[in-house]
Amino acid sequence: MSEVKPHVLSETVRAKIDHWMKRYPAEQKRSAVMAALHFTQEDNGGWLPEHLLEAVADYLGMPKIAVFEVATFYTMYNLKPVGRHLIEVCTSISCMLSGCDKIADHLKKRLQIDFDETTADGKFTLRRVECLASCTTAPMLQIGKKYYESLTPEKVNSILDEME
Ligand code: FES
Repeated sequence: MSEVKPHVLSETVRAKIDHWMKRYPAEQKRSAVMAALHFTQEDNGGWLPEHLLEAVADYLGMPKIAVFEVATFYTMYNLKPVGRHLIEVCTSISCMLSGCDKIADHLKKRLQIDFDETTADGKFTLRRVECLASCTTAPMLQIGKKYYESLTPEKVNSILDEME
């Protein structure tokens, strides 16, 4: 008798993926890959270890490499653990011309970390990203799903002060 393989993805994640898959024809389950990765990451404390990427591939009936390609292409998928708050500083041209270096330096000094590092208490991870399409309110950054725009070091301080 063959053994039933336990689900690696949680029931909540599977329900969300199933709901999302209803948007596509049954033979196009793979169209839900980005949403599936998003739900999985959210359910796993903000990052995607290899076994969960494989589980998403299995669930959608996709080759593992295809899921890895998506997960490694987009910066919104984290392949390493991140802090409770992921601070993504835009360093593309408009933000650069509007002083993002000053904002980034201020963040690094205040948090005592560099880009791609997490504070010792696990509260903040700092990352540089490409244009987040908010160029008219540069310099800007994103924390979670929220944009913070027209930044100054003082504004950054109040933003961080309010974070749990
Ligand atoms: S260059 Fe920073 S949001 Fe576009």
